[in-house]
Amino acid sequence: MSAPGRPKSEFRSAKHEGTLMSLLTILRYPDPRLHTQAKAVASVDARIRKLVDDMLATMYDAEGVGLAATQVDVHECVIVIDTSDSRDQPLVLINPELLARSEAMVFGDEGCLSVPTVYDKVPRHARVTVRALGRDGQAFEFEAEGLEAVCVQHEMDHLLGKVFVEYLSPLKRDRIKTKMLKKTRDEAQQRP
Ligand code: NI
Repeated sequence: MSAPGRPKSEFRSAKHEGTLMSLLTILRYPDPRLHTQAKAVASVDARIRKLVDDMLATMYDAEGVGLAATQVDVHECVIVIDTSDSRDQPLVLINPELLARSEAMVFGDEGCLSVPTVYDKVPRHARVTVRALGRDGQAFEFEAEGLEAVCVQHEMDHLLGKVFVEYLSPLKRDRIKTKMLKKTRDEAQQRP
């Protein structure tokens, strides 16, 4: 997920200096691979930890607040999130499930790293209780609210193959599809 006006992270230089991380390519809507349903992670091993680290680096580089493995064409249930202003509070959710959802809803402006420059309002539960495995493979539970709650729901949708523009009207969605295809074409032409 992306939110307007987030400060740029010092994560890569400050936290992970000297470690090997790769920036991953983020699929862009309407790439059909974004509609793949992710499978549960069978074991949190070195491959998954490397995926988590690469996803974090990719999210911070793109100045996003959340990224799902689906968006980097890996169809396993892995999410990374950081909604802190300091951009140094990474949250890793492997095989996340929602244990509870508030009746209260919020309609915040949402964006997505797979749908750059597009923001629109989507209905989300104001608070959710989440259970997941961390990067260490240990189960944990927490309650999220505000931007973090919205982000958890946005990223969990990605794991189901759902992009936030699917909450919008078909007319808006078609306009966004056209805009994204044109943006991708224009960028390809600008490349030497
Ligand atoms: Ni997204």
